[in-house]
Amino acid sequence: MEILVKQAAATTLRCGCLIAPAGPGNKLRATAATLDEASKGRLTRLLKRGDLGASAGSTLMVPDLAGVQAQRVLLVRTGNAGQQPGAVLRKAASAAIRQLAGTGARDAAMFVDDWTGKGLDTQAAARILSEAALAQSYRFDEFKSEEGDARGALRKLTLAASDRQGTKAATAGAKTGRAIGLGVNLARDLGNRPANVCTPSYLAEQARNLKRGQRKLSVAVLDEKKMRDLGMGSLLSVASGSRQPPRLIVLEYRGASAKSKPIVLVGKGVTFDTGGISIKPAAAMDEMKFDMCGAASVFGCIKACLELGLERNVVGLVPATENMPDGQATRPGDIVKSMSGQTIEILNTDAEGRLILCDALTYAERFEPEAVIDIATLTGACVIALGEHAAGLMSNDDRLADDLLAAGQESDDRCWRLPLWDDYQEALKSNFADMANVGGRAAGTITAACFLSRFTGKYRWAHLDIAGTAWLGGKNKGATGRPVRLLMQYLLAH
Ligand code: BES
Ligand code: MN
Ligand code: ZN
Repeated sequence: MEILVKQAAATTLRCGCLIAPAGPGNKLRATAATLDEASKGRLTRLLKRGDLGASAGSTLMVPDLAGVQAQRVLLVRTGNAGQQPGAVLRKAASAAIRQLAGTGARDAAMFVDDWTGKGLDTQAAARILSEAALAQSYRFDEFKSEEGDARGALRKLTLAASDRQGTKAATAGAKTGRAIGLGVNLARDLGNRPANVCTPSYLAEQARNLKRGQRKLSVAVLDEKKMRDLGMGSLLSVASGSRQPPRLIVLEYRGASAKSKPIVLVGKGVTFDTGGISIKPAAAMDEMKFDMCGAASVFGCIKACLELGLERNVVGLVPATENMPDGQATRPGDIVKSMSGQTIEILNTDAEGRLILCDALTYAERFEPEAVIDIATLTGACVIALGEHAAGLMSNDDRLADDLLAAGQESDDRCWRLPLWDDYQEALKSNFADMANVGGRAAGTITAACFLSRFTGKYRWAHLDIAGTAWLGGKNKGATGRPVRLLMQYLLAH
């Protein structure tokens, strides 16, 4: 989808549909007020008789409004400004764009300044509108034989501003929003692809695709032999039950001088999680193709950094493997040695995410990072604790945690902190090795992070458990691309 910024006036702008917000209590914003005047009060009359629903995101399509060049006007109800203003805007704009999919309008326009207000300037609003437009025009139909409804997706969105200054700010915001939107959609594509296509080698191939023609990016792929040389016995123990060879993918984005320490993003890349010998029940097991969504979010962020030309250094690390049962698979009770030298008793082969992350986290030390953030669909317990609304956040550094909480709030892609007190470490005691890989049912999200914390002592570190947020189940089944927005906000702001 194309996003365009231009200076225009509401009545003379030509487009398939002009989207105009109306606040609670029928308060018309600038565009709607202008259109109302041009049409001799038609919009006010429609609102007075209650044609536009009162709840946020309700829409009303008005075709061929007199005195207006746009073919249609779509009124959309915005929510209460008491809430996070960015979230209010995103919700209303998303609803409006979604509504367009069923109409004949192929291009739409919005006046950015209708959406600005307290705590939200033109640039921020343009960014959110662009993100929302890309998210709403996303389709995943590469495995469908028949083309989708031709009336489907929006082709072009014009962000209009009434003066030069507004145009400039909107252009900057649209660039950021587009970059992040493309990153989110890449993460969704990778997440949605089935595990018979999206294998560890396939992910490595995708990394090489990102590299093509990009001076600021370098890509390295470590194979099994290299992992063995590095002593990554924990990562290799997860891969041993699979016919697919594992990969450790290293993406180095250099947007700043070599002296500037990088942020390292580590993404769990389990391309399918059967549980291994501790096999999972059959119900909804197909959703375990999404167990590489942490990895997908790392790819998404690197893509966004490239699109933005972000001026900082970012390293992406993706340990990629399948978790399968097989004659070669790891057994419960097996003891392995991690790259850090610490030994692990694997009591449950379904707690595989931490086993691949720990070696990647040790590998991260060599980048002398400013901070390391790992992103993982790590525990079912996190879905129980926070549902689909927030990722779990755990950290050994209060400032880093606060910065990520703020970035989540700001980008409307939230996380919520859980404690990492020493008391929880006891659960990982093993009679036979330095630690066990599981800690029992209580506080499963925290004990998983406790396990990781034993490999992250040398740097500032945060862990995002995205088991509840990375994909939706049921009728809207599909990857969400979270937490790319959160991470990009963090990278942009700090
Ligand atoms: N990938 C799963 C976590 C998961 C499960 C995410 C369901 C989303 C939905 C992870 O590898 C896993 O199996 N974790 C186990 C850990 C347990 C064995 C300690 C879990 O959560 O049950
Ligand atoms: Mn598992
Ligand atoms: Zn898993």
